[in-house]
Amino acid sequence: MNRHLLSAADLSHEDAVLVLDTARELAAVTGRAVKKLPTLRGRTVVNLFFEDSTRTRISFEAAAKRLSADVINFSAKGSSVSKGESLKDTALTLQAMGADAVVIRHSASGAPHRLAHSGWISAAVVNAGDGTHEHPTQALLDAYTMREHLAGGAGDLSGRRVTIVGDVLHSRVARSNVLLLHTLGAEVTLVAPPTLLPVGVETWPCEVSYDLDAPLPKSDALMMLRVQRERMDAAYFPSEREYARRYGLDARRAALLPDHAVVMHPGPMNRGMEITAEVADGPRSVIVEQVTNGVSIRMAVLYLLLGGAEPA
Ligand code: NCD
Repeated sequence: MNRHLLSAADLSHEDAVLVLDTARELAAVTGRAVKKLPTLRGRTVVNLFFEDSTRTRISFEAAAKRLSADVINFSAKGSSVSKGESLKDTALTLQAMGADAVVIRHSASGAPHRLAHSGWISAAVVNAGDGTHEHPTQALLDAYTMREHLAGGAGDLSGRRVTIVGDVLHSRVARSNVLLLHTLGAEVTLVAPPTLLPVGVETWPCEVSYDLDAPLPKSDALMMLRVQRERMDAAYFPSEREYARRYGLDARRAALLPDHAVVMHPGPMNRGMEITAEVADGPRSVIVEQVTNGVSIRMAVLYLLLGGAEPA
């Protein structure tokens, strides 16, 4: 493993499988009444969140606490960042406080990379989502969830077909998933309107389609992405109704999937837009499981970066 986790591309096949296997062992702890291991006692994990988050922030916090680390939560709102403090000065403060790991979410693509390679801090840096760039622990928890349902938990995802649908342009989840799933040997198809695909997507290791119905019968997993209105500076589609009609997942479309296929979403969802409530809460949905698995994945990542290189 590298010293930091900045991109899904930092993970070799061996690293990725090590994280997934370690998470699986740690999941057993999550299932116990007393959810705590002494592994990271005395280590300090700082959650540095410059952008809003519900799931990812509490997931990293729960993960660090279950490993007995000391956790410091920092959110830009209510901190000196709103007084104009720079990333560098914030980093120097963290260094002075003895952070062993810094989990960072930032609206600027590349901020975690800057933090890791600036020399400002000696901590391990984990990217918890940077702009429209990457979100590697989300890709890991998604792969974990797919493995549980499609590969018997500890098996191989090679040859599995994963369809990722929606606002790929603004999605760090999509980019990290394409990279990690490619490493794991799965076949990914991205589906989006042409306006919501990034420049250069043809160089990504995946297929691209504008039509959602076509890949559904062959998909083992279908991942719906949130339409990220807060990152949109123009009209990318005619109307919400039109978007939902062409790229939304409803019961009719879900019925085109094979019986074993799972429906995923990283959250937060726009119910009624990219996914109907009926499908989000339906029998194929593993959306709540994704959240549970996120804690085990983040425990594994913190453990491997701070603790040891062998499975727990
Ligand atoms: C994603 C994110 O923040 O990138 N959410 C998450 O981490 N669970 C996806 C999104 O915001 O749509």
